[in-house]
Amino acid sequence: MTDIDIDIDTERIRQDFTILESGIIYMDTAATSLTPEPVLDAVLDYYRRYNANVGRGVHRLTRIATAEYEEARNKVAKFIGARAHEIVFTRNTTEGINMVASGLSMHKGDKVVISLLEHHSNLLPWLRAKRKFGMDIDIEVVKPANGDRKSCELDISDFEAAIDADTRIVAVSHVSNALGSILPIRAISKLCHANDALLLVDGAQSVPHLPVDVKELGCDFMAFSGHKMLAPTGIGALYIREELMPEIEPLNVGGGGVETASFVDYKLKGANEGFESGTPDISGAIGLGAAVDYLNAIGMENVKRKEEKLTKELIEGLQEIPGVELYGYDYDASSNKRIGTVSFNIDGKNPDDVALMLDNKAGIIVRSGHHCCMPLMNYLGIEGTVRASLYLYNTESEVNRLLELVRTIAASGR
Ligand SMILES: Cc1ncc(COP(=O)(O)O)c(C=O)c1O
Repeated sequence: MTDIDIDIDTERIRQDFTILESGIIYMDTAATSLTPEPVLDAVLDYYRRYNANVGRGVHRLTRIATAEYEEARNKVAKFIGARAHEIVFTRNTTEGINMVASGLSMHKGDKVVISLLEHHSNLLPWLRAKRKFGMDIDIEVVKPANGDRKSCELDISDFEAAIDADTRIVAVSHVSNALGSILPIRAISKLCHANDALLLVDGAQSVPHLPVDVKELGCDFMAFSGHKMLAPTGIGALYIREELMPEIEPLNVGGGGVETASFVDYKLKGANEGFESGTPDISGAIGLGAAVDYLNAIGMENVKRKEEKLTKELIEGLQEIPGVELYGYDYDASSNKRIGTVSFNIDGKNPDDVALMLDNKAGIIVRSGHHCCMPLMNYLGIEGTVRASLYLYNTESEVNRLLELVRTIAASGR
């Protein structure tokens, strides 16, 4: 046992995840989380009781659907410390980042700062913006100046060297999906403010796992996905600081988000509404609202602490197995530097083979490969890793089963 204090009834929680009845050990939440029954009920409830489009017409069903959809927006906003009209529903994190990268005006000499740890979804949109605006914008990648290559530790001095008066926007993940490391967003936002630069945070791996407050972090944009935080696929959210909404050109225009239209011109509605043209994923948004309720009932501080406890056990266990190489930070209870996403390799074994063995022998579901972070894998000099990612439904005995199997595979030789 460890000294991390947690107040979470895992056995009760697990009963809400019907898929676990099949006996699998699910450790691939960083790719997508499982979905609990209350969220599934909320989605079906929409189709069963008040299936209608939103923000269109006046009949009774659209009134209920619109009220539920907007209530979901309120819940999502509150969950990250934003105001409802600062939340744009998107399909996912990728769409949110693309909205900003393609909708923000850039000028000759502008610089975009990203980090070594970025997921392709926070890299390709900026590379495309560079293509669009010509070679006149720079993309600077922050890499660790010091420290051990395998830990990929980025500290604030690495960002100090990159963020300057030419910086238009800094776009960084809050938590690395490949290594589980938490980036120093508060300190980065101070640097951004001092240099009049904007800050976009990719919250895909932080919002599901940590208490997050956009105002406290001081970011201008935050994108995240519902499917990594117990909601269905196809729904995500983008926080845009209110004052910046007029500066972003929406990705789509069409039905729904329009104030007036003629054959000559149109005027979009203000705030979030102008960004949501076309029929949105109504049931998905309502499902995301239900997922937020579910997480709030447990408490994000509890989610975080529970993951810390399991992460410590997993990392300490892996460190003891000969032939296992870990990437990212070691676990340190006081450092607040990582979540329960743990990447490793076994000497002489291909990560895909390890993942298949874990699945075939014990129903352990983990991700293998480059995790949509090819530049990071190149930096580490590897093709990929095995990644076990933990969440509120995982147990100590599941971690022990994984360790047992990894020990057997590592001992089986090259
Ligand atoms: C850090 C990070 N950013 C962006 C994404 C992309 O998320 P989505 O596929 O939901 O758009 C992911 C998904 O793995 C991620 O982990």
